[in-house]
Amino acid sequence: MSTSRRGFLKGILGTGAAGAAATALPGCAPDIDPAPVTDVTADDAGVVTLLVSRYPDLERVGGAITLRVAGEETHLLVTHSGQDTFSVLSNLCTHAACPLGFDGREVVCPCHLSKFNPIDGAVTQRPATVGLRKFVSTYNPGTQVLSIELRAGQDGFPSAVNGEVRLPFTQFPTLRDNGSFVEGTPGGYGKKIFITRGADGALSAVDALCTHEACEVSANPSAAGFICFCHNSTFTLQGAVTKGPATLPLKKFTVTETPDAVVVTGVR
Ligand code: FES
Ligand code: FES
Repeated sequence: MSTSRRGFLKGILGTGAAGAAATALPGCAPDIDPAPVTDVTADDAGVVTLLVSRYPDLERVGGAITLRVAGEETHLLVTHSGQDTFSVLSNLCTHAACPLGFDGREVVCPCHLSKFNPIDGAVTQRPATVGLRKFVSTYNPGTQVLSIELRAGQDGFPSAVNGEVRLPFTQFPTLRDNGSFVEGTPGGYGKKIFITRGADGALSAVDALCTHEACEVSANPSAAGFICFCHNSTFTLQGAVTKGPATLPLKKFTVTETPDAVVVTGVR
């Protein structure tokens, strides 16, 4: 490990939850560095374009870089795991938010040695139990350009248009039922949202990103709310915290209903 990278890692470990976790589990530091950091910008459509040959740490097979995208909360780990094979994942370990590195085969957390599959972000070695968020990317071997879509949506789920997501009852009939929920990632927004109808018939919609360390929450039907499996924070259907470590509510959207659809606004 180079002196500068050790200094960087030490600085990271000295703060926040990662620092606390490293203190609690000493002696685990492996010979892996967090991927070096590069600052980039996205275009108006939320696309980051990289000419791979300009990034020596990424150009070689087995290389990786961390992207800090201006204006975006989540930093990205870009790995080059095989000939013309790149993938883009969130760069913070879901165990205690250490920045991740790449050993050429697996994504590795320098803090307590969790490992993740570089292609889909799935956990391959604990203590982390929750996989990494994956971003859509395409690589053109002819031009050596890697394009990363930060706001890509889920196939079949309505896109956000001017911040509005319209869910027709013909496509989402369960949204008429009390105690139901729908989840999906709208194109143009790029993050998962939940739309719920509580037992009393009231509609609500929240962003799935946990406010603790940005894992995705899951529906928790038994408690009529949400749970984050990274560190077990829980939230009401309206996003209020019911159990920490999260202290801030989930981002909430406005929901209205027409005779034929549920309409979510403020999705931007
Ligand atoms: S922070 Fe503990 S394994 Fe990553
Ligand atoms: S990321 Fe820690 S509880 Fe959600």
